[in-house]
Amino acid sequence: MAEGDLFDERSILLTDRVAIVTGAAQGIGRATARLFARCGASMALCDREAGLLAEVAAEIEALGRPVLTAELDVRDPEAVDRFVEAVAARFEHVDVLVNNAGGTFVAPFLDTAPKGEASLVAENFTQVTHFVRRVVPVMRDGGSIVNLTSIEAHQAGPSFGIYAAMKAAVESLSKTLALELGARRIRVNSIAPDAQPSGGEKEARQAMLDQAPEYLPAFLPPLGYFGTPEDSAAAALFLASDLSRFITGTTLHVDGGNRAAGGWHRPVDADAMHDDL
Ligand SMILES: NC(=O)c1ccc[n+]([C@@H]2O[C@H](COP(=O)([O-])OP(=O)(O)OC[C@H]3O[C@@H](n4cnc5c(N)ncnc54)[C@H](O)[C@@H]3O)[C@@H](O)[C@H]2O)c1
Repeated sequence: MAEGDLFDERSILLTDRVAIVTGAAQGIGRATARLFARCGASMALCDREAGLLAEVAAEIEALGRPVLTAELDVRDPEAVDRFVEAVAARFEHVDVLVNNAGGTFVAPFLDTAPKGEASLVAENFTQVTHFVRRVVPVMRDGGSIVNLTSIEAHQAGPSFGIYAAMKAAVESLSKTLALELGARRIRVNSIAPDAQPSGGEKEARQAMLDQAPEYLPAFLPPLGYFGTPEDSAAAALFLASDLSRFITGTTLHVDGGNRAAGGWHRPVDADAMHDDL
């Protein structure tokens, strides 16, 4: 590095840092785990899909990077405690926590029973707070927490109101944590994804189409193409790396421009639409 420069081409790397990724078997979690490992991190991964998780672990081992996995439901606090203890025992500390696991079923608010609501709160909020509480004590100063929220943390979520509210709660908590953990130089940021087809995203989209709801989300983002889970993984790498050393309490919108678009959307056939006016 030239004298006086803060960054060079190695600043994006996570060499020998220890990173936890929740929900790492598929989608954004899987892409994040693979990218972090390629950038030198030691990985600790959990998911309830044991078979798919084993596939990711094998890919990471093939890269020559250490990996520890646990098959668990992130809503089970005791299983999470055991996982974090195992990570600390194996790697001694944690540098990065990516709270990625999350999801929803599709149902209007009035059709969502208290039991379903409690499950969505646990799935999208309480497990995040539990992971933070358990991991921060074993995190090195200067660490990074990255929380996956959603575009729905910033707009209405018809047919998944509890999910949207819990993602908004994580956004809010991330800002508070950025302040409370700032003295230890632990940074806390959110990624608000949209339009990156993955297992969960496709299922939710299909369920919405099948139920013919009153509202549908915008389909084609302003950029004119859909993203992939690797787009959010790239944002997570930036937020985990030294390149973002002065960024905390903020949100990266990885959505092809959908958040900026607000109510605007890109019609698939703009000419035909104008003919109808
Ligand atoms: N893909 C998108 O465009 C998009 C949009 C908005 C928000 N998100 C958010 O990004 C995150 C990742 O989304 P994705 O699209 O990759 O989802 P996905 O459904 O493709 O993958 C989620 C992974 O997490 C695991 N998981 C979910 N709940 C779990 C639980 N209770 N215990 C253990 N493992 C669990 C699943 O088994 C799966 O492997 C989620 O928090 C989601 O809400 C994604």
